[in-house]
Amino acid sequence: MNVVPAFRIDLLEGEQDLEGVLEVERESFTSPWTREMYNWELQNRAVCHIYIVRTPECSVAGFCAFWLVFDEIHINNIALRPQYRGRGYGTALMDHVLAEAKRLGAKRATLEVRTGNTGARRLYERLGFYVAGTRRNYYTNPVEDALILWRDDQVG
Ligand SMILES: CC(C)(COP(=O)(O)OP(=O)(O)OC[C@H]1O[C@@H](n2cnc3c(N)ncnc32)[C@H](O)[C@@H]1OP(=O)(O)O)[C@@H](O)C(=O)NCCC(=O)NCCS
Repeated sequence: MNVVPAFRIDLLEGEQDLEGVLEVERESFTSPWTREMYNWELQNRAVCHIYIVRTPECSVAGFCAFWLVFDEIHINNIALRPQYRGRGYGTALMDHVLAEAKRLGAKRATLEVRTGNTGARRLYERLGFYVAGTRRNYYTNPVEDALILWRDDQVG
């Protein structure tokens, strides 16, 4: 893996960050979450946490959104802009999120991933996530199964 150049990870703050997240969504997913969905999420910042990767050139190079539900985190979305992928930012962002979640009292983490998303799956496996189940035809556009991953006993 390449050395990660200078970057910061911050909590989402303000309209410009949200606009950046929406751009990353549109650049990354065939069914991106909309502004309305994020506005709804952001009404409850005790549950919904969104972290942003900032580089010197890009104020929102990527993000990760998760819910904190009792002692679990549910990672809803993680993405980097295409030109920032494969440089270690995703790993750094997940490490940060898992450490923050632990600090907030989480003991387990879960997420769903397309079966064919081998890059993301490799990243999650390396971080200690394991496959706990499958949701048939969970995704649309294209239709694909979801793998349900969990990570227990957070040590991040
Ligand atoms: C998945 C994603 C968040 C990973 O972030 P990243 O910054 O590219 O990941 P890293 O650079 O830290 O690399 C982590 C691993 O994923 C691999 N990888 C994943 N997607 C990759 C991509 N598009 N290009 C290059 N490598 C990729 C890397 O090879 C690396 O594996 P390795 O260390 O075993 O070689 C990012 O690629 C992305 O935004 N993908 C599109 C959106 C998406 O699929 N999100 C996940 C939904 S569940």
